[in-house]
Amino acid sequence: MANTILVGGQWGDEGKGRIIDLLTRRADYVVRYQGGSNAGHEVHIGAKTYVMHLIPSGILHPGKVCVIGNGVVVDPIALLKEMDGLRKQGIRISPKNLVVSGIAHLVMPYHRLLDEGREDASKRHRIGTTKRGIGPAYGDKASRTGFRVLDLLKPAAFREKLARRVRENNALLRALGVRPLAAAAVAAEYLAAGRRLRPFIGDAVALLHTALRRKRDILFEGAQGAFLDLDFGTYPYVTSSHPTSGGACVGSGVPPHRMDRVVGVMKAYTTRVGEGPFPTEYGAVLGAEIQKVGDEFGRTTGRGRRCGWFDAVVARASVRLNGMDDLAITKLDVLDHLAEIKICVAYRLGSKRLDTVPMDADLLRCVKPVYETWPGWRASTREIRRFRDLPRAAQAYLKAIERHAGAPISIVSVGPRRDQTIFVNGRL
Ligand code: IMP
Repeated sequence: MANTILVGGQWGDEGKGRIIDLLTRRADYVVRYQGGSNAGHEVHIGAKTYVMHLIPSGILHPGKVCVIGNGVVVDPIALLKEMDGLRKQGIRISPKNLVVSGIAHLVMPYHRLLDEGREDASKRHRIGTTKRGIGPAYGDKASRTGFRVLDLLKPAAFREKLARRVRENNALLRALGVRPLAAAAVAAEYLAAGRRLRPFIGDAVALLHTALRRKRDILFEGAQGAFLDLDFGTYPYVTSSHPTSGGACVGSGVPPHRMDRVVGVMKAYTTRVGEGPFPTEYGAVLGAEIQKVGDEFGRTTGRGRRCGWFDAVVARASVRLNGMDDLAITKLDVLDHLAEIKICVAYRLGSKRLDTVPMDADLLRCVKPVYETWPGWRASTREIRRFRDLPRAAQAYLKAIERHAGAPISIVSVGPRRDQTIFVNGRL
């Protein structure tokens, strides 16, 4: 399969877990390279549903090595809970199939409280985060005041630094009206987690370079989506990491010239969770309908997702930003009942037509979508397994997406199960 980066092309929740699950069959290693337990990758196998927040979805496949790379922010308590939950579902997890980078940063309890406190402090300035402490954790990493996973293995130094960090963060928490933390309790909880995680903590960079030398295939599992990227997304309504393909290199230590292919996952429509501009958002009635048909509720927070038409301006920008070689279009079946379907092909801002996403999120709020309208197919696609068997109108809609986005569609999914997949052109 070669080394493949899989990224979300919209605002997250594109159904990446499902496509990763398909591609993992041909990979030897699966690497998460950014984000944290804000993600929720869902995979349906038979009657069972698995939701992974931190652990790569590759864990569901025996014999694959899963890596939580240095670019991820790890909440050790959440990680242990996830490991325990997956084990209860019959998944084997051992240091042979899960390695956590020692140089990944930790999400600390004050990160979670600060995230929550800031979100709750002002309705007007809310970002709509998952309240998992992601922003404050990456903030500390950049400020060089963070803890890394390997610090859990050095109790004395951990306690000493923690006392200082808790003191400073308690002042911030008090300013937000949040109850301060006791450093001793945090140390006890985190060092106990460190003792359990010790066998899994390793040098992920060395491991991946050995894999490269042995010509093993690596799949890089992106979380969130391109338009939640800290730099390229709709700042400040973004996450604090780099879900774009470039993030895979810095988040894993694998250099750019060793990456062979980028697969972009996009829904056949668009969703977004939390605040921020969303030009093609449906009105209330269609929004509620697609939310229900598509089961558009967050797997991490349970929040209802905002839904809208496919935005080809966003898709085009995403194809370029990530260098997407192939597209996987998910949830086509959710549109099965519609009489007509729209694709946003450009924006209008006053009298100007825009073919690209404006840099300023405030401007993106003011644009009006320019739509192309396609007839719906009004038939179930859920049991179709070949592109040529899809209704003509569905084929035409997918071809239009391909043309406007500027990359070939290689996979289409028509339902949540593994087998509800159409491999279009033999490229994947
Ligand atoms: P944070 O990553 O929790 O800081 O949240 C920042 C923004 O990213 C919010 O709009 C979240 O809803 C969004 N976000 C974070 N993780 C995901 C995800 O896995 N799927 C979709 N949106 C996400």
